[in-house]
Amino acid sequence: MTVKKEKLPRHVAIIMDGNGRWARSRALPRIEGHIAGIESVRDVVTTTRELHIPYLTLYAFSKENWTRPKKEVEALLSLLGLYLEKELPLMMENNVRFNAIGAISDLPVPLQQQLGGVMEKTGKNGSLLLTIALSYSGRQEILRAARLIAEETARGETTPLDEERFGTYLYTAGMPDPDLLIRTSGEMRLSNFLLWQMAYTEIYVTETLWPDFRGDAYKKALRDFTVRKRRFGSLKEI
Ligand code: FPP
Repeated sequence: MTVKKEKLPRHVAIIMDGNGRWARSRALPRIEGHIAGIESVRDVVTTTRELHIPYLTLYAFSKENWTRPKKEVEALLSLLGLYLEKELPLMMENNVRFNAIGAISDLPVPLQQQLGGVMEKTGKNGSLLLTIALSYSGRQEILRAARLIAEETARGETTPLDEERFGTYLYTAGMPDPDLLIRTSGEMRLSNFLLWQMAYTEIYVTETLWPDFRGDAYKKALRDFTVRKRRFGSLKEI
């Protein structure tokens, strides 16, 4: 499948949904859906690299996901650790910089250390910034920014507060806002993901379940984006 490279998004955000349904439809335990979902992560990261899209942000674990059964939470977190271990050499080979956002201090300490290590080792890579959101909540991120600003103001900081300055207190400081949000498995919700950053993001929802969302399905979503007319609230097309 071909996509017009000049019109591709710079930043793609993805809500990877439907692992549980994928497993259930095969009478498998839910965790098998997450394991199959890792293959989709790999495929999507590779395709993003091949197409020279510089930013990819994946919603892997929300703040709300802590309420899932302990066994599933533990399995998801240990899968993430395995993924990092396995992918690090490939990230280095492909010049991918890894980044984790969210309430990272909520995570088990060994995983925090592993995340820190991968971020440090890949810190100088420059072709793709791969961001994984973990224990993430968009509202919490905005609150955190507001608290940081309030603290600085109390200490005497007087720089006027505008959108640009506010953005520097978010986890995504320095990144462009997502141009495209992809959500798999048909749900029409933002689910507390990048609420500030997605004010003008184009949304693409597919019925395909995340473990079935591979390179071709991703390219289809990207091609759909390339023919959209973005106006950012004005009458003029960009
Ligand atoms: C949603 O499916 C998916 C998740 C909560 C986790 C996504 C995690 C992975 C794809 C694997 C690990 C991630 C990385 C980045 C290595 P669901 O369980 O909510 O599915 P359902 O709605 O069908 O139940």
